[in-house]
Order: sequence, then structure tokens, then C-alpha cells
Amino acid sequence: MEKEQALLRFLYPPDTLEKIIAIVSRFPRMPFLSIVTGSGWGEVVEGRTLEVFSYQDFGISFRREVEGHSGVVRLVEKDDTPVLVFEGRLHLYQGYRYEEVVLPVVFSFLSGVKVLLLTNAAGSLHREIPPGNLCLLTDQVDFTFVPDPPVFQKKPLFSAELRDLACRVAQTKDFPLFQGIYVGVLGPSFETPAEIRMLAHFGQVIGMSTVKEVKTATNLGLPVCGLSLVTNWGSGIASLPLSHQEVLETSLRSKRLMQEFTGAFIQEVARAWRS
Ligand code: HPA
Repeated sequence: MEKEQALLRFLYPPDTLEKIIAIVSRFPRMPFLSIVTGSGWGEVVEGRTLEVFSYQDFGISFRREVEGHSGVVRLVEKDDTPVLVFEGRLHLYQGYRYEEVVLPVVFSFLSGVKVLLLTNAAGSLHREIPPGNLCLLTDQVDFTFVPDPPVFQKKPLFSAELRDLACRVAQTKDFPLFQGIYVGVLGPSFETPAEIRMLAHFGQVIGMSTVKEVKTATNLGLPVCGLSLVTNWGSGIASLPLSHQEVLETSLRSKRLMQEFTGAFIQEVARAWRS
């Protein structure tokens, strides 16, 4: 616990941590798992809302400049499992600081969740993975070139146990589930076709988030699962130019898939971790 405490003290002034602990202490039930929803993943967990608060409550002034991100945090009861849902993500390209971007992870850690599910919207780097599909993340390449805190010691690792669990969910539900490496870039503009050809050597999907959250979770010892909704072909793979609108449209079309998968994932985590 000492290393984790040192990491938190490095990242935040004491009053931020106190604000989080004050919010957590008001929870009527402690969350079992936590979900950060990426672009278009909003409202993916339907259930009874027990508590609602916002990023502002931790001292972050949330800017609503990316459509599909709301900045609301909800404690939800889903089939009797309390789940913490962060609706809206903070991106480095929006000018948020490292410690702001990873705050949902730290909040999850401090509320004692057993599992963290990070979702995002991603572009496909390969023709075999068409938009509209889910891709389970096996590893990541951090191409943001934003330095990590020197107190980080562990290399990011997605939990093998959670990966197996996600595969089981896909199998039972008969959902196709791709697997691959996530290439994290800073953004905010999409890549050039030449950049996509280069980055395709490094992974299967590409996006502008998640990598710092995974590193923080790993260094806090929080088991993490990463799941991308593939929303578009990487630049140059298809003939049409891509846009954030396309990302949102694909998410809208795939809402049921995301909801059903996430619901089944929550059920399976609750079953596996309680037994
Ligand atoms: N590139 C980078 N980030 C993204 C993409 C993409 O094609 N799609 C969704 N996020």
C-alpha cells in the first residue's frame, strides 16, 4: 500500500484526495466495479441510480467540448451489483493535466472497486476488423509522447483473468469479439493515411485515450479490462474522409451491442468475484 500512497501523494494535493474520500463515504453501497465510458459509450449501464455527482465535485472544471462526453459520475445498481459509471472522459488533447485524466481511475481505486473496465471508441488499423465491432485490448503502445510520473514502476498489463471473462461473455452471448493491441495517440486530429500505415505495424486499433488510465490502474494494482468499440476505418483504409460525427454515428448504431455486452460483463464479474 505504501507505493500506491506515494503515487497518490505525488499526483494530488491532499484536498483532492479528501474530496474523493468525502464523496465515497456518502455512498449508500460500495461499488463493486467501475466503468469509464468513452466516446459514444454514454448511458451504457442502465439501472437504478443511487448517487450522481460530477467531475466538478473533485475540483475539475469539466469542459463539454467533445460531443458524446457528459462529465457525470453515477453510482448505479445493475442487477443488484453497485457499479460506478464515469460518463465522459478527460483527454490530454483537451488540455487536461495528467492527474485530471487519470482521476476516474484514482477515484475507483479509493472507492475500493475490484475491477475497472475502460471503454473507448477506436479506429481500425486492419481490414479484418470492421467498424461496428468490439475489440478486447490485449496490450497497448503509448504513442502520446506525454511523460509518465517517475513514481510509476510497473508496465501496464491488462488482466488476463478479465480477458478470459470477457471472452466467455462473448461466447455465451454469441457476440463477435476481436482482440488486439491499442495504439494510443495524443490527437485531437485524425491521422494521415501514411501515419495509419506506419501505426498498423504496432497494433490493431487506434484511439486518443485510455493508455494513461491503464498505466495508473496497473500501478495502483487495480485489475483492468480494456474494450474498444471500433467506430471507423483508420484514415486512408476506406475512401471516405473520417470525422468525429462518423465515430458518434457508429456508436449510436452499436448501442445495443455495447449495452448487452457491458450488462453481461457486469453480471459475470459479480458472479466470478463473489464466488
Ligand atoms: N484515430 C484516432 N483516434 C480515434 C479514431 C481514429 O481513427 N477513431 C476513434 N478515435
